[in-house]
Amino acid sequence: MNIKAKEILINMLSKKSTDDFINQSSESELKKTLNIFDLLILGISAVVGTGIFTIIGSAIVGSQAGTGAGTAVIISMLIAALASLFSALAYSEIAAMIPVAGSAYTFTYVTMGEFMAWMVGWILMLEYAIGNITVATAWTGYLVQLLKGFKHILPDFIINFPLWLRNDFRSIYAMCDKYGWDVHDKMPFINLPFGKELPVAVNIPAVFIVLVLTILLIKGVKESTRLAGIMVFVNLSIIISFVAVGAKYVAPDNWIPFAPNGFEGILAGTFIIFFAYIGFDAISTAAEETKNPQRDLPWAIIGTLVLCTLLYISVALVLTGIIPMSDIDTQAPLAHAMRAIGKNWYAGAISVGALCALTSVLLVYQLGTTRILFAIARDNFLPKNIMKIHKTFKTPHIITWLSAVIVILGSLFMDLNISAELCNYGTFASFVIICIEVLILRKTEPKRYRPFKVPFCPLFPILGILLCSCFMIYKGLSGGASSLYFLIWVIMGLAIYILYGYKNKRNSD
Ligand code: ALA
Repeated sequence: MNIKAKEILINMLSKKSTDDFINQSSESELKKTLNIFDLLILGISAVVGTGIFTIIGSAIVGSQAGTGAGTAVIISMLIAALASLFSALAYSEIAAMIPVAGSAYTFTYVTMGEFMAWMVGWILMLEYAIGNITVATAWTGYLVQLLKGFKHILPDFIINFPLWLRNDFRSIYAMCDKYGWDVHDKMPFINLPFGKELPVAVNIPAVFIVLVLTILLIKGVKESTRLAGIMVFVNLSIIISFVAVGAKYVAPDNWIPFAPNGFEGILAGTFIIFFAYIGFDAISTAAEETKNPQRDLPWAIIGTLVLCTLLYISVALVLTGIIPMSDIDTQAPLAHAMRAIGKNWYAGAISVGALCALTSVLLVYQLGTTRILFAIARDNFLPKNIMKIHKTFKTPHIITWLSAVIVILGSLFMDLNISAELCNYGTFASFVIICIEVLILRKTEPKRYRPFKVPFCPLFPILGILLCSCFMIYKGLSGGASSLYFLIWVIMGLAIYILYGYKNKRNSD
C-alpha cells in the first residue's frame, strides 16, 4: 500500500476519544433543561403514532389477501418489541456512558472511526428525516378524516380539498381508472422535454404543519416538549379509552383463528408493525439538553418501550376482539371499529387523538434530525456555519430550517409506503450498529463508568444484531423499490464523504 493510501485509511479509521466528546458536550451552548419526565414524554411522543393508529390495520389484515398476522399480531408486536428492547438496552448503555447529542452517529465515532460515523449519521437521516416525511404525509390523511366529520358546518372547498393539493395522486389515478375520466382534468401537469410530463401533486397541509413545528422548535426545546406533553396526554387518553370502551364488546370468537396465515403472516406483520416501535432512540439525541443524563436516559428509553408495548397489545386484542378480521379497515382501523359497535362520536375523537400523535412524532423527529445534523456539522463533515445558535432562543435555527426544508420537499412528492420502508431500513441498520458498538466498547473501554449496563452481555446485543439483520435481509430478498432506494442512499452518502466530507474535515481541523 502506498503512503498516501495508508494515510487516507488511517484518517478514515481515526476515532474520537470518549472524553473528547464528553468535554465538547459540556462546553455546548445548548440549554440543559430536560428531566426524566420530559424524556419519557419525548419517547412516547416519538413512538406512539402512525403505527398504532393506522399500520396496525395492515399488520392484522395484510397488504394483500392471505398475508396478515390476524390476532397473532400480538406475537408480531412482541417480536418487534424484543428486537427494539435489545437495541434499547444497547442505546441505554452507550447513551448514559456518552451523554452527548448525535445518537448512534456520536457513538460510532468513538468505536468505529470517522468514516463509519459519517455513514451512520447519513443512514440516521433515513430514520429521522424520511420517517418524518412518512408521518407528515399521514398527517394530511387524518386531517382530511377529521374535516369530513364537520361536513355540515365547514364550507365545501375545505371538505373537498383537491386531491392534488394533498399529494393523493393514487386516489386520482384510481378514480380516473374507475370512471374513465381524463387525469389531465383532475390535476395539473408540467410538460417536460421529449414529450414527457410530470404530474403536479403537492401536500399543502404537510408543509403547513412542518412550518408551524419548525417555528416552535426554534423558539425552544422545552416549550416544544411541553406541547408534545399535551399531545401525548390527549392521544394516550384516546388510546386508553379505546381499550376501556372496546373491552366490553370483545367476543372471543373473533380471536379464532388466532394466526390465519401462520408464521409467514406473523413475520410479515412484524415487519410492518415495527414502524410503531421506531422512535425511542430519539431520547438519546436529546442527551446534551438533559439535566442528569446518566441517571435519566436509560430509564426513559426502557420505560417508553415497556409502556408502548403494553398499550399496543391491549389495542390489538380489543381491535381483533370486537370485529371479525375481515371487517378491519386499513385506513383508520380504530375509528372504523368504534363505528362498527355504534360509537360514532368516538370515531371523531380518535381522529383528534391520531392528529395529536402524529404531530408529536413530527415534533420529536424534527428535533432528532436537527440534533444529528448539529453533531455531524460540529465534526466538520458539513459546513460549520449551519450550526449557528440563535442568540435569543439558544437553538440551532439554521439547521432546524434546513431539516424542515428536507421534510417539506420530501412530503411534497414522496410516496408514503416507500418512505416508511426506507425509514425501517435506516432504523434496522442503526440498531445493528449500536449493538455491535456495545460489544466493541466493552472490550476497548472496560473500565469506563457505566451507569447502566446491558444485562446478559454479549447474548442480548448478539440477539439484537441477529434479529435486526434478519429483518433487513428479509426485506431485501422480498424486493421492492425501497431496497434499491436504500442502496442509492448509501452510495450518495459515500459520494458526499469522498467529494466533500473527507477534505473539509482535514481542512478545518
Ligand atoms: N413510531 C412512530 C409512528 O408509529 C414512527 O408513527
